[in-house]
Amino acid sequence: MDNFIFENPTKVIFGQDTIKNIGTEIKSHNVKKVLVLYGKGSIFKNGVYDTAIGSLKENDIDIIEIGGVKSNPVLSKVYEAIEVGKKEKVDGILAIGGGSTIDTAKTVSAGICYEGDIWDAFEKTYIIDKALPIFTILTISATGSEMNGGCVITKEDEKKKWSTSASVLYPKVSIIDPTIQSTLPKEQTVYGAVDAISHILECYFIGGDKTDVIDEMSEGIIRTIMKHSKILIKDPNNYNSRSQLAWSATLALNGNLKIAKNGGDWATHGIEHSVSAFTDVAHGAGLAIIHPAWMKYVYKEDVNKFKRFGENIFGIKEGTSEEIALEGISKLKEFFKDLGAPTTLKELGIKKEELDKFADNTELVTPLGRLKALNRQDILNILKIAYE
Ligand code: NZQ
Ligand code: ZN
Repeated sequence: MDNFIFENPTKVIFGQDTIKNIGTEIKSHNVKKVLVLYGKGSIFKNGVYDTAIGSLKENDIDIIEIGGVKSNPVLSKVYEAIEVGKKEKVDGILAIGGGSTIDTAKTVSAGICYEGDIWDAFEKTYIIDKALPIFTILTISATGSEMNGGCVITKEDEKKKWSTSASVLYPKVSIIDPTIQSTLPKEQTVYGAVDAISHILECYFIGGDKTDVIDEMSEGIIRTIMKHSKILIKDPNNYNSRSQLAWSATLALNGNLKIAKNGGDWATHGIEHSVSAFTDVAHGAGLAIIHPAWMKYVYKEDVNKFKRFGENIFGIKEGTSEEIALEGISKLKEFFKDLGAPTTLKELGIKKEELDKFADNTELVTPLGRLKALNRQDILNILKIAYE
């Protein structure tokens, strides 16, 4: 294995009836006035809002609230929250929601501490070195943002859905109560499962045969996600499956599966981010389309690893290495389809003529791809495979 450094400072409180601890946790970090961010209102319907706010009040923490964070979160909302946060002199941020709310919270926490335009961090002209402490109550398991230092924001006017990361952006504390995910619409559970599998695959195919321990962990987590997402689409209140999926999704992108993987590939995510910047499609839905297409395009770069995927995830035994590799890719696509995710860009109502603008937009992210470095033509070829 290559040398690596692994560090993850986030404290996770996991399980039923844990949200009530948020006030004590925030207080223990000496935060006196917290900016609470949330999405479009699901937290009012399932009681999460009341429990969280009650706990903050019990601990005498002053509260400023901003709701309305949209999926595929946007920079204008970040600016709005930074302005309020600065004016109100908040000293901590609490995100209640999924990746969209948590990513907004991370960007706001850094933006409040920065004199310039926080978009600089996404353009990589500013390296984030200061942020207010971030706390999260996770309501949908998908992105892993609750236990990593990354965030993804869209600059609407330029259609740039870009990411940044910093060690100061790891949440101090994240509460994951899987029971509250029973209220998720079925498709959101599915997109969360697809996203988590995609995060694992972004790293899995890197490292050849030198990352056995990570690959075994990755395969085990993928199989767990597959097993329990299938149960949840029929039985959304199944606590055991909710909790298995929740922890799997956190593990999928908290850094431990990236070890000795040169950071991972991430071309699929780059391409999907362009598609969702233009279409606002849910991230997991876009990945269900792009990931199998990327696999089909690049598998020859390491046929043995793709063969291993086919064998260990789908139990395929018959055929040449190439046949097993290709069968594994088809089975993955079939699995996404069976869950109810879209598997072609055409299904999203996208016109073939639009593929060029997605390719132009993705090309702005460089370098793209580690297993295979992709140029604009490669990106377009993958989009064409994904189209129908
Ligand atoms: O806005 P509300 O009303 O809360 O509804 C949300 C939203 O419509 C709903 N929801 C969440 N929890 C619920 C619930 N509905 C009922 N009951 C609950 N318990 O679910 C919808 C999706 O929420 P969102 O936060 O958008 O989902 P997700 O967690 O999938 O986040 C997606 C965003 O994260 C980015 C994606 O690109 C996308 O912008 N990513 C962030 C990453 C990171 N920070 O590490 C990595 C990922 O690869 C990804 O790019
Ligand atoms: Zn993702």
